[in-house]
Formats: sequence, structure tokens, C-alpha cells
Amino acid sequence: MEDLAFHIGVANSTHKLYADQIAAEMENSAKARGTGIAKRSPAYLEAKMEEGKAVIALTSAGNWVGFCYIEAWGHGKFVANSGLIVAPEYRQYGLARKIKQEVFKLSQEKYPESKIFGLTTGAAVMKINSELGYIPVSYSALTDDEEFWKGCQSCVNFEILTAKNRQNCLCTAMLFDPKSKKKES
Ligand SMILES: CC(C)(COP(=O)(O)OP(=O)(O)OC[C@H]1O[C@@H](n2cnc3c(N)ncnc32)[C@H](O)[C@@H]1OP(=O)(O)O)[C@@H](O)C(=O)NCCC(=O)NCCS
Repeated sequence: MEDLAFHIGVANSTHKLYADQIAAEMENSAKARGTGIAKRSPAYLEAKMEEGKAVIALTSAGNWVGFCYIEAWGHGKFVANSGLIVAPEYRQYGLARKIKQEVFKLSQEKYPESKIFGLTTGAAVMKINSELGYIPVSYSALTDDEEFWKGCQSCVNFEILTAKNRQNCLCTAMLFDPKSKKKES
């Protein structure tokens, strides 16, 4: 590892050169965990970078170390922060937490009225989401946008989701509702 000084910020078109590596790592990590993940092509990740809807982490030497992107669903009523990935050799340094904090901030800037949600099987992500103010919810509280749920088709657990009539699956659903946050404060 060459250093521990990371640059974390909103991705743009200059970061497209990292898309192949990120997509490959997403797929490898999903295989290694044996759990499901919605597959994303390098072209899809490049589009997210161009739209300013992704956060990327690099070392000061310019090596890619982490990524996460935003997707809007249900005509912007819902926003998902998806595809969180940290390069294996850079895990356990707090990078996922920092990337999620940035992508959460970006989501609120771009979609201040939207509910922010995620589906995950990962303990780290559940912990980070809880810190950000997400709470666990049933799937019925999420978007009913068919396009979002189509993303689950590439997951190894898709048959379970279908068998459960989309009411449940192995992922925990977590949601941040800006309105309930305002009520509390
Ligand atoms: C999950 C992942 C993003 C975590 O990245 P990371 O940079 O190592 O996470 P952080 O260092 O920011 O850890 C955040 C917290 O989660 C905890 N954590 C990290 N990995 C964990 C794991 N595998 N199991 C349980 N807790 C974990 C950390 O201890 C930390 O908590 P703490 O500060 O209170 O001790 C990374 O392991 C990864 O890319 N995995 C493969 C892809 C994946 O699972 N993505 C999520 C899809 S929803």
C-alpha cells in the first residue's frame, strides 16, 4: 500500500478510465461473498460519473480504491445509494464510511425531498446506514418502480425475491426519510 492519503469526491468524466476495474471488482466481490448483487456494466458506471451521480475514492498516486453511485426511482421520489465497493486491499480503513457519507450528502443536494434507501446483506453497510439515520423497513416502504426491481434479476437470490412476491428477500431494506428527520429536530 503506497500511502493512506485518500481523495474522496464526486466523480466526473475524467474518472471513466476506472470503470472497467470497478465493474470487475464489483463482480469479483459478489462472487467471493457468494451473495447477490445487481451487476453493473462499465458503461453504466461511466454514465454515472458523467452525470455527477457517483463518488470515487483514489489514492494520492491515482489508484482507484472505492466507489458508490446514486440512482433515482419513482420519478425522483426515491433515491438509492448503490454499488458501494472498496478495493480489497484498502478495506477496514474507514473508506466505506467516508464514501457513504459523501454519497449521502450528494443525494441530499441533488434530491432534497427524496427518501434515500438501500438494500444490503452487509453488516458494515447496515452499521454505516444506521449512523446516517437510515432505519430498517419492509420492502413495501421502498419504491415500486419496476426498473429498480429489475436490477435484482442479476442477483443469485432473485428466485427468493420472486417466490416471496417481492415482499422480502435476503437483503435488509434501509430507508432515510428526510420528513421524519425534520419532525424529530
Ligand atoms: C462492505 C465494504 C464496502 C466495507 O468497506 P470498508 O472500507 O472496509 O468499511 P469501513 O472500514 O468504512 O468500515 C465501516 C464499519 O463497518 C465495519 N465493517 C467493515 N467490514 C465489515 C464486515 N465485513 N463485517 C462486519 N463489519 C464490518 C467496520 O468495523 C466499521 O465499523 P467501526 O468503525 O465501528 O469498527 C467492503 O468490505 C466491500 O467493498 N465489500 C464488497 C462489496 C460489498 O459488500 N458492498 C456492499 C454491498 S451492499
